[in-house]
Amino acid sequence: MSKIRIEGQHVLSGEIKIGGAKNSAVALLPASVLCNGKSQIYNTPEITDIDYLIKIMELLNCKVEHKDGTLYIDTSKIENKPIPEELSVQMRASYYFMGALLAKFGRVEMSFPGGCNIGARPIDIHIKGFEELGAKVEIIKNRYIITADKLVGKKIYFDFPSVGATINIMLAATGAEGTTIIENAAMEPEIVNVASFLINMGIKVTGAGTKRIEIEGTKETTDAFVEVFPDRIETGTFIILGALIGKNLKIKGIIKTHIEALLLKLDEIGIKYKIENDTMTISKCNNISPTYLKTLTYPGFPTDLQQPMTTLLTQANGKSIIEETLYENRFKNTYDLNRMGAITNILTLNKLEIKGPKKLKGTNVIATDLRGGASLLIAGLIAEGITEIDNCDVIFRGYSDLKAKLTSIGAKIEITE
Ligand code: UD1
Repeated sequence: MSKIRIEGQHVLSGEIKIGGAKNSAVALLPASVLCNGKSQIYNTPEITDIDYLIKIMELLNCKVEHKDGTLYIDTSKIENKPIPEELSVQMRASYYFMGALLAKFGRVEMSFPGGCNIGARPIDIHIKGFEELGAKVEIIKNRYIITADKLVGKKIYFDFPSVGATINIMLAATGAEGTTIIENAAMEPEIVNVASFLINMGIKVTGAGTKRIEIEGTKETTDAFVEVFPDRIETGTFIILGALIGKNLKIKGIIKTHIEALLLKLDEIGIKYKIENDTMTISKCNNISPTYLKTLTYPGFPTDLQQPMTTLLTQANGKSIIEETLYENRFKNTYDLNRMGAITNILTLNKLEIKGPKKLKGTNVIATDLRGGASLLIAGLIAEGITEIDNCDVIFRGYSDLKAKLTSIGAKIEITE
């Protein structure tokens, strides 16, 4: 298990470029099995989730090369095989093989996906959607066997706009006869990114990015390419760092509309920044106001930035409240933040109180999940003294080139095994 050692309080300046979005890339790679030949995915981040997805692709007899940020994929010799638990549990996104292989072969067998332990995270909406398209789903212990002689498009209503279910049903619907309509679909940018790949393959998809998506099934696909959007969560993480310890820090690769909720929240709490074209310039704010923040589905405030934001609010002048509406177990980072000197109290299962401003001091902490780890990383970078983050492999699941990026803007960090 790796550790990150941080010497805190070094001012961050210079320029960094945001990498490709984890949550797009991890859906695009499984989606590539729908191509009947070659495809390329540009701007793919070098993160461990991608490494594991490549292992699954190789198990399915696909060729994947990850070179200079591009995935070169050849699925022409694909074979359908059960995906073993040791691979599927490595990340949440392994579940995208359910929709993709079901569309391609009418059968998929795999174990329950993994991912950060931030709540129960059931996949009932995905399963209900597959069944509505005509699939039979057998669950034997932890294994899912999903089969369909024929998938037939229909109108499906989601009880909750799940990101994963929206993408999974979009993928499955490509193999269905006729048109599938998803009502109350999730609207996250990652869904638009996946839809653009499917469209590039020759599949007709309309409405991605809205509450109603229409997919016309076809197996007549072509070679295709797609570029992964910049990661809006990595963007937000670096913006938060800039607001805490930046000096004219330049963050390149900003898509403003993808981070609107964060930007409006920063405006509200007094954080100044400048955006020119795709670059934000941001410096430390010495007078941050407290706030009430509620996580919501897109375009609301993203739950994946809730934990980094908690660290920011430890420096606000007064009491902030965070309401987490997506996951019931996403305050685990606060235990270690408090050990570093923050004052946070979990008021109810989904409400957190943060009393600021508090000076943070470096100590030994443990990353319990990806974004919780990011929140501790931010804390370590602003804290006095040395912070050591144990179990930091979970952070590398979502942030590519982390050490190089942080070092290039002035941070003092080491990664040890
Ligand atoms: C994706 C992201 C994750 C992000 C989340 C919300 C990936 C790989 N992960 O996760 O980083 O935090 O979106 O923006 O893209 N739910 C159900 N039943 C289902 C599906 C979801 O009850 O069948 C619930 C979940 O438990 C959760 C909420 O719906 O409370 C949101 O889940 P969902 O949007 O599906 O998130 P993920 O796709 O798991």
